[in-house]
Amino acid sequence: SSAAQTARSTTSAAAPAADTRDRCTLLFGTQTGTAERFAKSLRAQLEGKYGGSTAFEALDIEHYDHAARLAKEKLVVLLMATYGDGDPTDSATDFWTWLSEAAEAGSEPDLLQGVSFAVFGLGNRQYEHFCAMGRKVSKAMKALGASEVTPRGEGDDDRDIDEDFDKWSAQLFAALDSSDLVTAGKGDASAASFVAAYDVEEVADAPASAVDSLPSGGTGLNSHSPFLATVSDVRELHTGGDRSCVHVELDISGCKATYEAGDHVAVFAENSPSVVQAAARALGLPLSHCFRLRLPSPNKHSLPEPPAPGPLTLRCALARYADLLSAPNKAALLALAACARDAREASRLRRLASIEGKDEYHGYVVVAKRSLLEVMQDFPSARPSLGAFFGSITPHLQPRFYSISSAPQQHPRSVHITCAVVREKMPAGRLHEGVASCWLQRARPGDRMPIFLRQSTFKLPRSPAVPVVMVGPGTGLAPFRGFLQQRAALAQSGQQLGAAHLFFGCRNRKHDFLYEEELEAAVAQGAISQLHVAFSREKSRKEYVQHLMEAHAAEVWAILCETAGGYLYVCGDAKNMAKDVHRALHTIAVKATGCSDSKAEALVKQLLDSGRYLKDVW
Ligand code: 2AM
Repeated sequence: SSAAQTARSTTSAAAPAADTRDRCTLLFGTQTGTAERFAKSLRAQLEGKYGGSTAFEALDIEHYDHAARLAKEKLVVLLMATYGDGDPTDSATDFWTWLSEAAEAGSEPDLLQGVSFAVFGLGNRQYEHFCAMGRKVSKAMKALGASEVTPRGEGDDDRDIDEDFDKWSAQLFAALDSSDLVTAGKGDASAASFVAAYDVEEVADAPASAVDSLPSGGTGLNSHSPFLATVSDVRELHTGGDRSCVHVELDISGCKATYEAGDHVAVFAENSPSVVQAAARALGLPLSHCFRLRLPSPNKHSLPEPPAPGPLTLRCALARYADLLSAPNKAALLALAACARDAREASRLRRLASIEGKDEYHGYVVVAKRSLLEVMQDFPSARPSLGAFFGSITPHLQPRFYSISSAPQQHPRSVHITCAVVREKMPAGRLHEGVASCWLQRARPGDRMPIFLRQSTFKLPRSPAVPVVMVGPGTGLAPFRGFLQQRAALAQSGQQLGAAHLFFGCRNRKHDFLYEEELEAAVAQGAISQLHVAFSREKSRKEYVQHLMEAHAAEVWAILCETAGGYLYVCGDAKNMAKDVHRALHTIAVKATGCSDSKAEALVKQLLDSGRYLKDVW
């Protein structure tokens, strides 16, 4: 949420409310919001079970005063996402720098003596450094004398990370039950007291100009300071067929942040009017209802600043700040239970949120892919206040990242997005429409959208003479369109270009050959030396990019071999395509050099290690 991020301040670091209970801090280092969701869900469950003896607080690690607090903790739970090459998330950088330096210095081996901790790492097995942050944090904590109460957990976002987390949570509860760190049975899962809620102030007389205003004047450098970009063009890239892929141009004139081809743009999209309408109905309030959220005092649940200072209409608050289409987390179910007027609904919600009810949760929420909105519609007696809804029930809508599909050499004042529109039937029958992609599809020139730019390491080689192989089927083509624009500009300024092979894949030349004319022009200009297009649904046999790469093994390897020193770029689907391409690379090395399998393995690893094999996959 844009303003949410802007406003997210350090209030949570404020002095805890007078409370004589022991404290347990749950720290989350999150990039996409999963670790935060888990932390809040776990906090609610812990509070429900042990809340009599211990006060549980979930806190963004970015706002945690580690130097002052960590050594004094009795029990701390860390939920750490891994970002990029085994790095901390942006929010955990300070914490990790401090912790790792302390551990490495080795001068204070007892610094965290007496501190008990548990770590759950989040990651994706598609990446080499799977859950590296969880592993490193656990190791460093131990090196400083802290004791780990239960073996570190690992969640794999490529599979079922919620299930991984549930299993680890059950293990954590078992470990805590048999420890003297907390006392079980004192919490009250049915009490509304642990539902974190903002204070809500109704606003009847705000001047229209002050209501729902988007914060302007941001730098666009990070999520805390989004820049208000203006949509300047939207067009459909598919011709016929039942799917949609849109090309969107955002005017970033005046934005402090600059970009290079290969960087990402994060967009803060809004929910569709029909989703907003349905959510307002579930909350039992009119869309025009105008209000302001404020931090409660005392802020005993360490709520972050409300998503926007307001005043806001319900229409705007739901559109911009509520993640209504994701699966509801367990903390949300418990909070819904606490405000359900129908006892049966309340007990069913509590059951779904409980450790014992995990199979029911799995079936009803995970497998069926039910959204928060659907669940609220299924439990109509659970009508939370706006304060509880934004405090405990809806996650805040997060920005969505896209690979920029333009280059500043040709478009210094705009960024282009190439976006596949997500619209699919869910198992329970709901038509799921991706928030960001559908927003982009609905956008019209003149519409404004908060954005920020993020640098990536997915860049062309510094010297344009170095040859490259680019592999990007579907919207994986996006960053390569930027690369081609950059190369065309370099060629125009008289630079000598190395060879460039582009492997693109789509279903059918007639329907989804994205930017066909531009690609052909790039060949004519010399920005591409060879264009290979795999059409997967034109013949009886599937033809994919990796098949064409194998068919051109000698040329591909002539670029990637050590002597040529060329670069390989892969962009697009991580689950299947990137893996298959990776496998094809071995075949190519064997085919081109006649080497053994193990030698091919080593050659590919060398390519990776030397930074000449780059991926931008999702
Ligand atoms: P398909 O939809 O016919 O299976 C862009 O999405 C293109 O990538 C489509 O032509 C799609 O083919 C293809 N594709 C799907 N799975 C792939 C894989 N594992 N490797 C390479 N391309 C793939």
